[in-house]
Amino acid sequence: MKTLIVYYSYEGNSALVAEELKKAAEAISSVCNILELKTADDIKRTGLSKYFWGGKQVFSHKKPQLKPYTVTIEEYDLIILGAPVWAGTPAPALQSFIGETKINGKKLGLFCCHAGGKGKAQDKLKALLTGNTIAGEIDFVNPAKQDRAVVVKKIEEWVRLLQTSDL
Ligand SMILES: Cc1cc2nc3c(=O)[nH]c(=O)nc-3n(C[C@H](O)[C@H](O)[C@H](O)COP(=O)(O)O)c2cc1C
Repeated sequence: MKTLIVYYSYEGNSALVAEELKKAAEAISSVCNILELKTADDIKRTGLSKYFWGGKQVFSHKKPQLKPYTVTIEEYDLIILGAPVWAGTPAPALQSFIGETKINGKKLGLFCCHAGGKGKAQDKLKALLTGNTIAGEIDFVNPAKQDRAVVVKKIEEWVRLLQTSDL
């Protein structure tokens, strides 16, 4: 079983989930690689300008350019994709990756991080990934602010479910 985790994180929550997912997957799976997506524009906005800038990306439907990365999708049996929710949608950087790589015929796990209002973000993500099998989906409310042991347990259980699913 080869697993790939692809994620985008602006403030560290999705990164935390991805890193814990990797640890949990490695305990069961033979190989687990991780790819962090970074946008070409990596200026850190804070406060209101962060929401204005992120919201503009979402509402203009403009997919940000990503920094170069190398990945061979075909190598993997399970691909886990994750990102924060921005204005009720998966952060545009993850959508850039999906648009570029055209994942098809794969077993997928989907996760998102949000502040309590994920809206239809996961449905929107699934709509971009038709042609694949969604083995599981999960969401976290700002996990960096939660009890780490609780978050890790939730992640470990989910990884076990994904890896044993014979979809
Ligand atoms: C531009 C922007 C838009 C956001 N929109 C939402 C939203 O619609 N619903 C929500 O619950 N949280 C929203 N959030 C909060 C993040 O989804 C949440 O804090 C998440 O855990 C951040 O993940 P990250 O640390 O991996 O970037 C938004 C944050 C930003 C920066």
